[in-house]
Amino acid sequence: MYARGGTDVPIRIKSRVSRGGINCLQVAKENVGKGISFAEQTIIANSLMPVNTHEEKVNPGPTNPLPQELDKALEPSLRPKSLNEYVGQEKLKRNLEISIDAARRRNQAIEHVLLYGPAGLGKTTLAHIIAAEVGANIKATSGPAIEKVGDLASILTNLETGDVLFIDEVHRLPKTIEEVLYPAMEDYRIDILIGKGPTARTLALELPRFTLIAATTRIGLLSSPLRSRFGMTFRLDYYLDEDIKKILHRSAAILGVTPHDRAVSLIAASSRFTPRVANRLLKRIRDFADVKGDGTVTEQLARDALAMMEVDLKGLEETDRMLLRAVIEKFGGGPVGLKTLAVAIGEEEDTLEDIYEPYLMQLGFLARTPRGRVATPMAYGHLGLEVPKTQGLF
Ligand SMILES: Nc1ncnc2c1ncn2[C@@H]1O[C@H](COP(=O)(O)OP(=O)(O)OP(=O)(O)O)[C@@H](O)[C@H]1O
Ligand SMILES: [Mg+2]
Repeated sequence: MYARGGTDVPIRIKSRVSRGGINCLQVAKENVGKGISFAEQTIIANSLMPVNTHEEKVNPGPTNPLPQELDKALEPSLRPKSLNEYVGQEKLKRNLEISIDAARRRNQAIEHVLLYGPAGLGKTTLAHIIAAEVGANIKATSGPAIEKVGDLASILTNLETGDVLFIDEVHRLPKTIEEVLYPAMEDYRIDILIGKGPTARTLALELPRFTLIAATTRIGLLSSPLRSRFGMTFRLDYYLDEDIKKILHRSAAILGVTPHDRAVSLIAASSRFTPRVANRLLKRIRDFADVKGDGTVTEQLARDALAMMEVDLKGLEETDRMLLRAVIEKFGGGPVGLKTLAVAIGEEEDTLEDIYEPYLMQLGFLARTPRGRVATPMAYGHLGLEVPKTQGLF
C-alpha cells in the first residue's frame, strides 16, 4: 500500500496502527524496541498526519496540541521566497532576472512563463518567487482542478491587472478548456458561448493584462498551440551536487540543526539531485538523530538512518530497485513495454513515467528504446548482478 507524504514521492506503508485518538508520534516512540523500525514509525506517523490534523480541527483543545501541529507551527518554511535565496539553476535565473527587471522598468506585466522538469525541482517555488519579485498577487490553481470552461472563466475574470495566474500540472487541463486559454493569453479576452441552438451567441469578455505561469512535469503532453503562446519556456534540471549541499545547509539552518559536512555530502549523494528529496531526507535524519542520538547529525548517524529508510547511496529506494530487478530478472534485461512493467511491479504507468523513470534514466540505469525499457550494464553493476553475455543491446 502506498501513501503520499505531503507532496513527496510515494512511500510504502508496511503496516497501520489503530489511531483511536492517540497521537501518532507517541505511538511511534512507544514502539521503539518492539520490532517496528524507526523508518517504519516515521512512515506510519506521516500516513496518520492528515487524520490527526482533521481531528485537531474538529475538537480543538488548546491544552493539548499535537506535537506535529506544534512542529509545523514552529518550523519555518524551507521554501525560498526570493530569487536570491533560490539555489542553483543559474542560467534560468539569469534569464529570468532580465525579464523581471525589464517588466519592472516598463511597469508592465511580464510575459507568460512555462516551467517544466521533473517533480520536486522547484517549479511551484519559482512561480511564487516570480510573482513576489514583480510585486504581483498570485492566484494558484492546477490543471485537474479546472473541470469546466466556466471554472476557468471565473478565475480569469476575477484577475486584476498585473496578477499572476499559476496553473500547476497544466498538461492535465482538458482540451476544451485549453482552447479558452489561447485568446486569454494572446489577446486578453475570452469568448463565452451563451444559450443553445440557433439563439446561441458568443460574448467576448475583456480581461486585465495578467501573467500566466504554468508548470508541468510532462512537456511532451502539451499541445503545440499552447506551448507556443508562452513568451518564456524554462526547463529545470536536476541540481548539481554542490547546489544540493547548499540547499541542505540552508534547510538545516532553518530547522536548527548543524549536520557534519560529511553527513551533508552523504545526504546530498542520496538526494536524487532533487531539493524536495534532500529536504525530506534531512528532516527524517533529524528525527532519527533526536530519537537515536543526542540530536547531532554525524556521518555515521546519517548512514544508519538512510539504511533504515532503505535509501541507498545513489538515492534509490525500494521501488526503484524493484523496478530494475523486474526488468532484469523477469524480462531478461528488457526491452519491456511500460504497461507490462507497470503491472509487474504493481504501479501506475504515470507514476513510473513521472517519478521513477526520469531519475533512473538520468543515472544511466534505464534506457527507453522504441521497443521498451532496457536495464543498462550500470544497473546490473549497482544491484551486484552480472551482465549476461547475451545482452546484445549494449
Ligand atoms: N532552488 C531551490 N533552492 C532551495 N530550495 C528549493 C529549491 N527548489 C526547490 N526547493 C525546495 O524543494 C521543495 C520542492 O519544490 P517545489 O514544490 O517547488 O517543486 P516542484 O517542481 O513544483 O515539484 P512538483 O512537480 O512535484 O510540483 C520546496 O518546498 C523547497 O523547499
Ligand atoms: Mg509543484
